[in-house]
Amino acid sequence: CGIVGYVGPNDTVEALLSGLRRLEYRGYDSAGVAVIDEAGNIGVRKRAGKLVRLEELLEVSPLTAQGTGIGHTRWATHGGPTDENAHPHLGDDGKLALIHNGIVENFAELRAEVEAAGITLIGETDTEVVAALLGLEVARVGDLETAFRTVVARLHGTFTLLAMHRDEPGKVVAARHHSPLVVGLGEGENFLGSDVAAFVSSTRRAVAVDEDNIAIITPDEVRITDFAGTPVEFAEYEVEWDADAADKGGWSSFMAKEINEQPDSVANTVRGRISGDAVEIPELTALGAERLTNVDRIIIIACGTASYAGMIGAYAIEQWARIPVEVQLSHEFRYRDPVLTDRTMVISVSQSGETMDTLMAVKYAVEQGVTTVSVCNTQSATIPRESDAAVYTHAGPEVAVASTKAFTAQITALYLIGLHLGRVRGTLSAETQADAVRQFETLPEKLREAVDTHTQIAQLAHWMADTRSVLFLGRHVGYPAALEGALKLKEIAYIHAEGFAAGELKHGPIALIDHGQPVFVLVPSPRTSPLMHSKVVSNIQEIRARGARVIAIVEKGDTAVLPYADDVIRLPLADALFEPLLQVIPLQWFALELSTVKGLDVDQPRNLAKSVTVE
Ligand code: G6P
Repeated sequence: CGIVGYVGPNDTVEALLSGLRRLEYRGYDSAGVAVIDEAGNIGVRKRAGKLVRLEELLEVSPLTAQGTGIGHTRWATHGGPTDENAHPHLGDDGKLALIHNGIVENFAELRAEVEAAGITLIGETDTEVVAALLGLEVARVGDLETAFRTVVARLHGTFTLLAMHRDEPGKVVAARHHSPLVVGLGEGENFLGSDVAAFVSSTRRAVAVDEDNIAIITPDEVRITDFAGTPVEFAEYEVEWDADAADKGGWSSFMAKEINEQPDSVANTVRGRISGDAVEIPELTALGAERLTNVDRIIIIACGTASYAGMIGAYAIEQWARIPVEVQLSHEFRYRDPVLTDRTMVISVSQSGETMDTLMAVKYAVEQGVTTVSVCNTQSATIPRESDAAVYTHAGPEVAVASTKAFTAQITALYLIGLHLGRVRGTLSAETQADAVRQFETLPEKLREAVDTHTQIAQLAHWMADTRSVLFLGRHVGYPAALEGALKLKEIAYIHAEGFAAGELKHGPIALIDHGQPVFVLVPSPRTSPLMHSKVVSNIQEIRARGARVIAIVEKGDTAVLPYADDVIRLPLADALFEPLLQVIPLQWFALELSTVKGLDVDQPRNLAKSVTVE
């Protein structure tokens, strides 16, 4: 979910909506705002559906506010996405408003308590229970801050909570427990947000609120305390990107814009990390050479697209640093009682740095005393702050729910980590290092060429508008790239899609091949991987013989597949490990175009949220 809080002299509803527009990628099942109106009462407007529904409501039923407000865009957990279940929720007979991101696990018990106190709850959400409880507490102790502290300490689960009370205008209180919260520092105005996007159009000065802390904002003051009320010192930082970076520009969708940005986002991720012919990541150097040379096993943890980037990174790290690497889904990791020693390194990969499944896995790893490295795209997010070292991908804000530029930046960062480790551990020849550096130098240009496959892919998607199932095949690093191609299609075109290791097809999935079944095949280069190439060409013949419609993604000059492919997409030449960075781009375009021809919302697919901050 996305949350925003505002105190200050400007148009409060507009400040909240502007934040929510930028946060909508975090959830769009419903949206709502609450303000203290001119009469000093709490005014609320909320609506099921995307933010535009709330904006429509505000047109016909405007709210005037005097400087205090909170807003929410929801990804439903407790209770369906209805008007009633939308946030904010009211307490204390409508005198206070509250919004919540996360899950309150002991809500049934609290609900009973609230009902026993004579309050009738109308909705089904845990948030409504917390609002009622806070109302009871304010009535008892007489002030919002004290009451808020007491209530917050009683909640189990994960939450970011924001609350305001009509008797204390000009103040919003907020608490975080395993869920993100940042403060934006303005001139005579202050902001709260689930991430900096909530306020970056007004201020780039931010404070990351630590775990189990409470922030109290007024127009002129920001205070942070722990749950007991003891003041906590805090440091501000400057947000690296500006508001324009999170605007659509002239593009039809954020996803289209972000696919296009990949030559730059990859280059930005490499920048400052190459000196001469060697890769040097200062954040890893800071861990000390001994710690790095001691590592005897790496576990990469991630979810969704980030896990496929992890799978690709694993091949490179093993090849360059000669350390065994395995990839585990974050939500599976700790339940298997993983074998961890002080020589294990856990690398988490997360665009947002807030994915709850990954955060919990990182916390578990930290408790076990292993070295933790975070590959993350969001400055000062929780996961990098919990980790021993943070290797940021500098892809800039990614807004479309389906990840694209973060994926290629994550692969890039993992490759740089592999090269750094290989250098420090002496497993990498100077020549291999120099070759890899050359690849990085020429990559942006090649990525640009891959982006230029758009027109061809758009045509293909047009012809395939009625397709109900698509398969993707790849080998080696092409295999996770195939998985990613399938995920993109599921996410935004709602088409059944699966990725397979090309060699596995004959062991079962080939039974799926029927006349006209579209199959994308990521063909390895015949120059760098002649053996794999010939095997994949055989795989193509096998499926072609059974009626498949083959769309081959090949490097320019590879003619071996021409007789068996219905469509051929040509990409520039790259070393084997660098191929998936290029191959995935036409697959991203394909998902986008298929989603578009089906008339779907490319950036905000149904049921998903960009950053899932519940387990
Ligand atoms: C969600 C998103 C996916 C994303 C995954 C991991 O499920 O819908 O697109 O890949 O989370 O997100 P992260 O921010 O941790 O990379």
